[in-house]
Amino acid sequence: MAAPRAGFGLPTRVLHWVMAFGILGTFALGAYVARMEVGLGNLWLFGLHKTIGAVLLALAMARIVWHGIAPPPGPLPGPPEWQMTLARAAHRALYALMLGVPVSGWARASASGLDVVIFGRLTLPAIAPASPAVEDALALLHRGLAWGFLAVILLHVAGALKRAIGARDGTLRRMLRG
Ligand code: HEM
Ligand code: HEM
Repeated sequence: MAAPRAGFGLPTRVLHWVMAFGILGTFALGAYVARMEVGLGNLWLFGLHKTIGAVLLALAMARIVWHGIAPPPGPLPGPPEWQMTLARAAHRALYALMLGVPVSGWARASASGLDVVIFGRLTLPAIAPASPAVEDALALLHRGLAWGFLAVILLHVAGALKRAIGARDGTLRRMLRG
């Protein structure tokens, strides 16, 4: 099952793309629920955001474990050293944010004092004290980290497209087809 040294293994590629679409969808849903006029008819959207966000947190942890078992191949050579350093830093930041964004959302939801329910029935333990001041601070943190996540994702996608369209060096192809 280990990824061959020359490319990304199937589990790594499946995790990458499932999580990429999941994260972008959860971001859009979060931005929507934070701005919608809340009513009884749309409360379930909060639960959906928390549920998908919690699944993404579990997948991020699985991905980090899998990374240890089957380390990804090094980057294809070509770009100047500063771009390689930037890409490595972006990958590290993406991993930190794959954990930090959902954990901050979970903490923010805990601070509201309401049960943090996912899948409509499973109550997660509270990881922050219930208090309006803590809730405000954590809401700011979750929002800031989520928008920072989007910024790093855009940088990462720009780098991937530059190599796919500009250099045509197989970087995108090996993440798609191995
Ligand atoms: C990768 C996972 C996640 C992403 C990308 C994400 C993204 C977002 C975004 C973009 C917002 C709107 C921020 C704004 O005001 O502009 C938001 C709000 C929120 N998120 Fe998340 N989130 C994630 C996971 C979670 C999790 C796991 C929970 C809770 C268990 C959660 C709870 C919340 C809550 C309660 C809000 C506030 C809605 C409101 O303003 O009333 N999020 N999230
Ligand atoms: C939206 C959330 C995304 C996240 C969190 C993310 C995260 C990552 C991470 C951490 C890696 C390093 C390899 C690994 O450890 O798995 C990676 C590699 C890669 N990503 Fe993404 N990615 C996202 C979206 C995208 C999108 C939309 C594209 C395509 C346009 C893309 C293209 C690539 C490519 C081509 C690589 C391989 C780079 C190499 O060969 O070294 N990613 N991604």
